[in-house]
Amino acid sequence: MKVTVVGAGAVGASCAEYIAIKNFASEVVLLDIKEGYAEGKAMDLMQTASLNSFDTAITGTTGDYSRTAHSDIAVITSGIPRKPGMTREELIGINAGIVKTVASNLLKHSPNVTLIVVSNPMDTMTYLVHKSTNLPKNKIIGMGGALDSARFKYRLAEALKAPISDIDGMVIGGHSDTGMVPLASHATRNSVKVSEFLNEERLHQVVEDTKVGGATLTKLLGTSAWYAPGAAVSALVQAIACDQKKMFPCSVLLEGEYGLRDICIGVPVLLGKNGIEKIVEIKLSDAEKAKMQESAVGVRNTNGLLEV
Ligand code: 2OP
Repeated sequence: MKVTVVGAGAVGASCAEYIAIKNFASEVVLLDIKEGYAEGKAMDLMQTASLNSFDTAITGTTGDYSRTAHSDIAVITSGIPRKPGMTREELIGINAGIVKTVASNLLKHSPNVTLIVVSNPMDTMTYLVHKSTNLPKNKIIGMGGALDSARFKYRLAEALKAPISDIDGMVIGGHSDTGMVPLASHATRNSVKVSEFLNEERLHQVVEDTKVGGATLTKLLGTSAWYAPGAAVSALVQAIACDQKKMFPCSVLLEGEYGLRDICIGVPVLLGKNGIEKIVEIKLSDAEKAKMQESAVGVRNTNGLLEV
């Protein structure tokens, strides 16, 4: 199993680290355009191998896509991250050109690769990859929902004063401060709806804190987060590499599901060796349906800024 991670910045390096630590991939190639940077990160990570007990071979390259040849899965993290006060949507001008070029370079050397898109604005970048490549839709996956759901579970556990392993919950919709739809009515603590433990006001606070989860970290860190994004990517990569058939919300091309078409937006999917193996349509309340439609309007507005 060969995995390429494009972009050796904080998110890309975290992806490589978590993938390696889980020890399911034989090879991870880190690629960056900054001279020597990917090589350095790869070497540093390899020097953790004996300490962290992994056998994944991590190598780095400055822009040589031939080194990524025959990748099974490639993760696109390239582009600029947001600064405090910026929305993910504001990154489109710079990141669209980068993501399009990266996808095309990857496909020249790995025509059957499954792509995981992380660069922001993520739903629109995933849509751009659909529009600019001829990869089948099951092989183009946007990472946002898995991260947002992890942040939702963190906030729920905090509110409930419960261990996170007790909590289950999911965030669908666009990966943006206003577009996320945390499914509070479906969230549970050991099969008991969280609404049994939290009043409406507290639950509302959890939902709002979840939606600005990335922005809160950007403000604290001065740039966008990397540990949770890296861990979320590694979970998706593992589900595909190990054919786990696990369910995650991911940004995928919809063709009528959830009443939407010609848009990439977060919905629950099953991930296995074929990438997206199924889009799972769950029953939403009228309020959740309305929020999903509203979220889609936001994603479409950003898609409208693309020059494809
Ligand atoms: C986030 O931290 C990477 O979009 C990203 O939310």
